[in-house]
Amino acid sequence: MSEDLNSVIDDAMKEIEEAGDAEKLDQARVNFLGKKGRLTGILKGMKDIAPEERPKVGERVNAARAKIEESLAKKKQEFDEKMLAGKLAAEKIDVTLPARKSEQGHLHPNTVALNEVKKFFVGMGYQVVDGPEIEYDYYNFEALNIPANHPAKDEQDTFYINDKLLLRTQTSSVQAHVMEDRKPPIKIIAPGRVFRADEVDATHSPSFHQIEGLVIDKNVTFADLKGTLAEFAKRMFGEDTRVKFRPHHFPFTEPSAEMDISCFKCGGKGCRFCKGEGWIEILGCGMVHPHVLEMRGIDPNEYQGFAFGIGLERIALLKYEVDDMRLLYENDIRFLKQF
Ligand code: DAH
Repeated sequence: MSEDLNSVIDDAMKEIEEAGDAEKLDQARVNFLGKKGRLTGILKGMKDIAPEERPKVGERVNAARAKIEESLAKKKQEFDEKMLAGKLAAEKIDVTLPARKSEQGHLHPNTVALNEVKKFFVGMGYQVVDGPEIEYDYYNFEALNIPANHPAKDEQDTFYINDKLLLRTQTSSVQAHVMEDRKPPIKIIAPGRVFRADEVDATHSPSFHQIEGLVIDKNVTFADLKGTLAEFAKRMFGEDTRVKFRPHHFPFTEPSAEMDISCFKCGGKGCRFCKGEGWIEILGCGMVHPHVLEMRGIDPNEYQGFAFGIGLERIALLKYEVDDMRLLYENDIRFLKQF
């Protein structure tokens, strides 16, 4: 009996010592102290021992149990400490590392340019208005004095939805809506998306943006138009910017002009940027055609107006000295991040 107990203790010590993980350790506990464990077996055998021997044997069995339990506890603590140390090492934070930058979104160059344009005109007392992208043929063409046989009306230039509806080709369509909805004085800009059946290249896209301007009041003259747009050019491209108005033709204005700005890169001497011209075209403009006013019930003898149409992409590309319009639409974050 006593030999048996000693070998149980030895075996238990060995198994506990050799247990490589918590699972094996628990198995050792079950093997010796469990319901069917070896030490439990010895306790069960007590009934076969002479009664006078029992207290002594009982004492030894209890001592053995205590020893095994102590050994189990020690080993378990070892495992716990090891696990904690491992966990701490794995979760260690190097507080000296530089912080990771949180990437903020940013405005598209078109939006930045538009905000600047808006800021200028709002400062001059203009209201910003909106108009529909899907438009009646009437507002896009007829109400702007564009005759039925005008080349812009060709299907090759315009996306038609049906006989009456199209995707507006110009924000000038908003002019007619505004003149219909309110009485002069009118002083608005209408930024928005326009559509043309163009192939994509460095300077063309089937969809781009314009900013329309319309002023109608008493005693409005071409001098008002020139002063306003010259000031606009200075604000957008620098105080030294000069402007030039070239006669042009638009059906809804008379007289009509295109406005060039002196090249802000070379100051007008001629460079790669202005293609050696010294001047860069940035917008179309003119005095509102009397017939356009009459169609909206505004008396051209009482009221006059001027209008202008600015290509937003053109402004953004010039401002940021980018020479390919496609970059504005491709949403390449590496490009957009720069602005
Ligand atoms: N709508 C014209 C275009 O798309 C631009 C334009 C020219 C607008 C003259 C105007 C204007 O308001 O007066 O080419």
